[in-house]
Amino acid sequence: MDGPARDLTEAFQIHYRTQKTPAVYRAPGRVNLIGEHTDYNLGFVCPVALELACYVAAAPNEAGKLRFYSRNMDESREFDAASIASLEPSGDWSDYVAGVAVMLAREGFEIRPLDLYIDSRVPQGGGLSSSASLEVSVALALLDGREMDKVALAKLARRAENEFAGMPCGIMDQYISVFGRRGAALKIDCRDLSFEAVALPDEVEIVAVNTMVKHELGGTAYRDRVAECQAAVEAIARRHPGVKSLRDANLNQLDLVGGIPKKRARHVITENERVEAFVAASARGDLWEMGRLFVASHYSLRHDYEVSCEELDFLVDTAVAQPYVYGARMTGGGFGGCTVNLIKPGRGEEFQETVHRAYRERFRIEPVFYPVAPSDGAARIA
Ligand code: GLA
Repeated sequence: MDGPARDLTEAFQIHYRTQKTPAVYRAPGRVNLIGEHTDYNLGFVCPVALELACYVAAAPNEAGKLRFYSRNMDESREFDAASIASLEPSGDWSDYVAGVAVMLAREGFEIRPLDLYIDSRVPQGGGLSSSASLEVSVALALLDGREMDKVALAKLARRAENEFAGMPCGIMDQYISVFGRRGAALKIDCRDLSFEAVALPDEVEIVAVNTMVKHELGGTAYRDRVAECQAAVEAIARRHPGVKSLRDANLNQLDLVGGIPKKRARHVITENERVEAFVAASARGDLWEMGRLFVASHYSLRHDYEVSCEELDFLVDTAVAQPYVYGARMTGGGFGGCTVNLIKPGRGEEFQETVHRAYRERFRIEPVFYPVAPSDGAARIA
């Protein structure tokens, strides 16, 4: 048994005072390379699964209960396993776990009485998909060895977040957590839910930098963006009924859209093009073009989609001022969380020192750095 599997097994046995050997599951967080706020518009995204992951140890109990303990929150919850389908959201972290159980039960899966020990190594609120990795790892634990199609698994985890946790997110985070590939990014088509593995050039290091801020605005702003994109689709569809989502729209049709929805739609349409251009540049090994697309994506998110913030902008500006940085951009939903940076190999330390010093001086906050090595998707590990 390797590190986390052994840790989780021991922690499970101590917490539940048992000798049982639990099954241990892992589901990774992610960093999105490009294709931001395109998933719920049925466009393209290009994330990688991280080494950082959420782990769940699970074993049956004889109490008829679904019990879970979160090491991160140091809190437990307990529900009657047989009646879980009628559970209501409670408005706290446990909704991400309970929501998965409720969705599985509604799909007709019996929720078996299990004890879960949950330990996430994905920084909470850092924009690296701590919630999706939690949902997916819990779903595997609750399935308890029963088979489920992988796309169905990603959709179910997303539904837990949409319908139970009340966050109208797209499919990207759950999908990459399920399908992640060691050594590759995935270009995901969020309309037909297929993917293509994207090999990244060897001569680049990817580093995520955490602003360590999360502005309150995030949740409402996300909902507003979803609605504004929908308004843009409706405006275009009045003239072009074939347009069902911004995936179907093009820049010429933007004249039919007014006000804020126009800027939002412009971001989404150009961002989808940037994903395709990024994948092509990656295949050619054209790192400067990949970096240029990163920066263009950031500016579009900053000015048209308006989901960036001072801290993210500062990290991007500082990064791209370094001659060994190909490009940088915010990643994830925005309003805090992380940037993702493409840098020349061997310059990681210099990058860290420079960015750390500048950011601390400006905001009096210590940023945190995560070297990114694309990892595999969710699985049972012990
Ligand atoms: C959050 C959501 C994703 C996606 C990104 C923005 O991470 O969970 O579905 O919309 O924001 O690209």
